[in-house]
Amino acid sequence: HASQTLGHFVDMSTIHLLTIPVNCVEGGSRGRLPLRHHAIHDPMRKTQIPVPAATVQLIQSRCPVIPRVGLVLGSGFGGLIREVDVVRRFAYRELPGFPVGSVAGHTHSLSLGHWRGLEVAVLEGRSHYYEGFELDEVTYPVRVLAGLGVQTLLVTNAAGGIDPKFRPGDFMVLSDHINALGANPLRGPSTAGLSRFVDLTEAYDRRLQQHLRAAARQVGARCHSGVYLAVSGPSYETPAEIRAFRRLGADAVGMSTVPEVIVARQCGLRVAGLSCITNAAAGLGGANQTVSHEEVLETGRQRETIATRLVAAFLDRLAR
Ligand code: HPA
Repeated sequence: HASQTLGHFVDMSTIHLLTIPVNCVEGGSRGRLPLRHHAIHDPMRKTQIPVPAATVQLIQSRCPVIPRVGLVLGSGFGGLIREVDVVRRFAYRELPGFPVGSVAGHTHSLSLGHWRGLEVAVLEGRSHYYEGFELDEVTYPVRVLAGLGVQTLLVTNAAGGIDPKFRPGDFMVLSDHINALGANPLRGPSTAGLSRFVDLTEAYDRRLQQHLRAAARQVGARCHSGVYLAVSGPSYETPAEIRAFRRLGADAVGMSTVPEVIVARQCGLRVAGLSCITNAAAGLGGANQTVSHEEVLETGRQRETIATRLVAAFLDRLAR
């Protein structure tokens, strides 16, 4: 269990042995150092991420589904995949350019299939900035979904509640976000055909927000609207940070979603965001509070059934 808890710190699956010229190595190493492949400082690294169209072609050559709706299933939302009539499932490691993360509680695959009348693409698990991936790697799957034909994207996550009326187990429809990652996925060379100066004045589609709120009412889930603030993590916040974020206008805090949403907007997708509030943010949970990954996963597990019903009711509305 300890190795599960420590997840991305100890998982050796992404460790590759590279030969480093001896004159580059301090301290008399024999010239072989373990480096995580994504942590190599290489000014040419961009060339190692395939253009999304290449991966799109590979997927299309193996699966005829043309998805219109994309779903990113974060912690606590994984149950939805059991409702999808999956035509083809790809492990991320089969797909060039897809970052393979290692956080406990996340599986990593792209499934294409049908949900009632809708053709869907489901990303289970995601990779995070805190794992050491660059944001262009984190957001690569979103570019591929757009290339496959996705027009509407629902991004889900677990988040800490900052608004004092939020209780663990509640849901929050994202009305807006604050990017406090200190990084932007669009930084770097511009993408041919796409503007890098992306408008985010209405990042989260109003109509989709209404659909999410109506879906929550329909399944009887407590649900709010609010602003999601993204931090890089992986440490949780201090109470002082949470007080500061509250004054900045944040209602919930998490370590994902914002990069995907920025890229989705660049690709012209209609975006919806939904958080499961898994815990009170630091300092807001009473006298002896601690914030832990276990608590986040546990609340997510407890709310998975209702989260699945909520998303299903949302998809129902899209299908109408
Ligand atoms: N902080 C940051 N990320 C989170 C939290 C939190 O409290 N809960 C779930 N993801």
